[in-house]
Amino acid sequence: MGNPINAQGARSPLIPHVKSTVAVASGKGGVGKSTVAANLAIALSSTGAQVGLMDTDVYGPSVPMLMGGNNVPHVVEGKLEPPVEYGVKIISMAYFLPKDEAVIWRGPMLHKTIQQFLGEVRWGALDYLIMDLPPGTGDIQLSLSQTIPLSGAVIVSTPQDLALTVASKAIAMFQKLNVPILGVVENMSYYLCPKCGHREEIFGHGGARAAAEKLGFPFLGEIPLDVNVRVQSDCGKPVALDGSTPYGKAFQEVANAVAKQVDAAGSKVDEGIQIE
Ligand SMILES: Nc1ncnc2c1ncn2[C@@H]1O[C@H](COP(=O)(O)OP(=O)(O)OP(=O)(O)O)[C@@H](O)[C@H]1O
Ligand SMILES: [Mg+2]
Repeated sequence: MGNPINAQGARSPLIPHVKSTVAVASGKGGVGKSTVAANLAIALSSTGAQVGLMDTDVYGPSVPMLMGGNNVPHVVEGKLEPPVEYGVKIISMAYFLPKDEAVIWRGPMLHKTIQQFLGEVRWGALDYLIMDLPPGTGDIQLSLSQTIPLSGAVIVSTPQDLALTVASKAIAMFQKLNVPILGVVENMSYYLCPKCGHREEIFGHGGARAAAEKLGFPFLGEIPLDVNVRVQSDCGKPVALDGSTPYGKAFQEVANAVAKQVDAAGSKVDEGIQIE
């Protein structure tokens, strides 16, 4: 614990007081990356950690909406002071775009935005900076991995084969970029009927665990498919705010598993590097 460097062995000068940076990614759209990123940030924060949440999906930013969107950033001494929602510091392109306006940018502009979201935001001292990534294996993923040393990536997948195949592509991309894979989360894992308690495995179940084990990565947990997760996300009150529900508990377990993997990635570096 308390390791001040991230998995790749150096803090970034852009965010010198951030201990670990965790990208939440998937190969495929709509599998719940943003939902997992927001709830992970809240669950980590509820353990007393200092947490930031960076929405790197400049084309479809959704983090402020998920996190309540009550506050906006302000400029303080020439830098952006990120708004705080539920104890988590947030930055997103959504704060800077007129509503319903689309971003049509090429790689260099995306790269510049990522750099600004890191270096020109007053993140201060953080234990975790969680990054919600857009779907796929494109410019943002590349830009992020090249701009700062990431502690690791959390891969979100639904249980069906197709999603898992695409998730493997995201894993392969991060490996090529030398970003450690912290593990795989299975979202929309099973459906629990709120009326009768019957468990229905709509997309199959356990596929992500099996795939993680086969590929040799940790399995970080499973999140049920539950209408409350969607409804509470839509009204800006992520379910992890209440750890007593089955889905709140599921996110807390994922957060504990992620924290453990971040620590393990840090200690691997510790073995090889002398910290002053
Ligand atoms: N476990 C869940 N139970 C019920 N609904 C869920 C669950 N996880 C996500 N959702 C819903 O599924 C939809 C897609 O989720 P989300 O926006 O988090 O996916 P995403 O992977 O970030 O999508 P994109 O690729 O477009 O960024 C949202 O409406 C969200 O509320
Ligand atoms: Mg998203």
